[in-house]
Amino acid sequence: MERFGASFLIAGIVTFLLGFFLQGVMPVLTLRKVPVATVEELVQTIPPEFSDLAEEYPVEFERAFGEVSLASLVEAIELGKENYIAEACWHCHSQFVRPVSKENIRFGPVSTPEEYQNLMQLPHLFGTRRVGPDLIRQAGKHSNDWHMAHFYEPRNIAPYSVMPAYPWFFDENKRPTKRALALVAYVQWLGSWAREVPGTIYNVDAMRGGDQ
Ligand code: HEC
Repeated sequence: MERFGASFLIAGIVTFLLGFFLQGVMPVLTLRKVPVATVEELVQTIPPEFSDLAEEYPVEFERAFGEVSLASLVEAIELGKENYIAEACWHCHSQFVRPVSKENIRFGPVSTPEEYQNLMQLPHLFGTRRVGPDLIRQAGKHSNDWHMAHFYEPRNIAPYSVMPAYPWFFDENKRPTKRALALVAYVQWLGSWAREVPGTIYNVDAMRGGDQ
């Protein structure tokens, strides 16, 4: 019996070392040469939804971010990311299309390093759970108003949603706070570089086995 005990111990240690190498060391070795883009490098154009946000909520937008510009966009999406982390949105949403389970049919092409090797993914927000849909290509899928109404009370939009309501994103007059504007700017920016994708995502016919 003691001999078996030693074998299990050795097998355990070897498995741990193998796991550490495969999941800890290998990613560093393969990805360290891919440059990590700064937010300024990443943000080259202003998505139309950001300009819309300034038109739709002019007073709140100006108070929060001033004019529509690349600088105010960067400020908004960075604040949006901070709130995305603080509110634990990542607990239910992923930001990574995986190369398994035909995810490309649901969410578009498998995510590539160009998409996620950047400071907006540090700490990385790939997520491990999908209580809600993947958000990496969320830009333009819904309108800004849709997002505001959805944050205020998801069940007004999707009756069986388990997503929590975020009433503290709004002031006593139910107008959006800086935090709400930043989060909407952030989700509307995610995947704004891949505008051609939304035509295929959530393609129900394709998921049923029809043409993609
Ligand atoms: C308890 C899990 C949960 C949490 C936490 C959560 N969501 Fe959701 N979310 C969902 C579910 C489920 C849906 C799908 C149903 C719906 O539209 O409400 C969803 C839908 C969405 C959608 C629409 C996605 C689409 O493609 O239609 C967006 C955008 C979104 N959530 C953003 C957020 C943000 C931002 C946060 C954090 C402030 C957040 N969610 C927190 C579960 C969650």
